Amino acid sequence: MSKTSHPNLPKQIPQHVAIIMDGNGRWALKRGLPRLAGHKAGTENLRRIIKACVEFGVGYLTIYAFSTENWGRPHEEVNGLMRILEDVIDKELSELNEQGVQIRHLGRLDQLAPALQEKVMDAVHTTQHNSKLVLNVAFNYGGRDEIVHGIQQMLKDGVSPESVTPELVSKYLYTAGVPDPDLIIRTSGELRISNFLIWQAAYSEWYVTPTYWPDFNKEEFRKALDEFSNRDRRYGKVDAPEYEGTHV
Ligand code: IPE
Ligand code: IPE
Ligand code: MG
Repeated sequence: MSKTSHPNLPKQIPQHVAIIMDGNGRWALKRGLPRLAGHKAGTENLRRIIKACVEFGVGYLTIYAFSTENWGRPHEEVNGLMRILEDVIDKELSELNEQGVQIRHLGRLDQLAPALQEKVMDAVHTTQHNSKLVLNVAFNYGGRDEIVHGIQQMLKDGVSPESVTPELVSKYLYTAGVPDPDLIIRTSGELRISNFLIWQAAYSEWYVTPTYWPDFNKEEFRKALDEFSNRDRRYGKVDAPEYEGTHV
């Protein structure tokens, strides 16, 4: 987390923002459009939010784009979401690279079509040395799957029970090396975690807005950062000054 002194910037900029980009379907329904039109509009919006993150100096942005449970949607929608990821990589990779965005993938790649796996790996490889913003794309991601995968890896590595610590568990997750999210934003008003970063969110601040993801613009993002700036993160502790003059 970093403090800013610029009057146009929020007082505190979270080092890591994670977003549950929800409400694309309802956004489309409200306009009498097919759900996929909502997903496309959501992708357009993502471009704006990535730019805002670069501008505000956010170090890490994690976006929830496709959950392990989203396979349960109709084939047409699942295929459409796969196509959208492919299109985004084709159309946006060079600009993201120019902006200094480092793309990482969170989740299981091996369940995606081979051509898509290759595209994702290529995007990760092409941008690996960029450092302006780390963009974690959670695609075919589930928090429980991530923990199960981590435990499987630990057992394969022969990790002894005594050496299992919270720090070690973190190293076995898809987010290894990424600081825990300071702020998690969920658009469209649902008050649930939906299997997103369930380990990493232990002490994240939450911001939920009724705005659907395609309408969550830079101003709305700025509002979330302003609210974050005013949060008192205690991590289970109490502020020392409250004890001044008391004897315990
Ligand atoms: C979020 O929008 C995007 C994905 C889950 C891929 P939804 O598709 O969940 O939109 P709603 O919640 O049905 O409105
Ligand atoms: C969470 O949204 C997943 C993504 C945004 C990718 P969902 O729309 O799938 O979550 P639920 O079903 O409302 O919990
Ligand atoms: Mg939804």
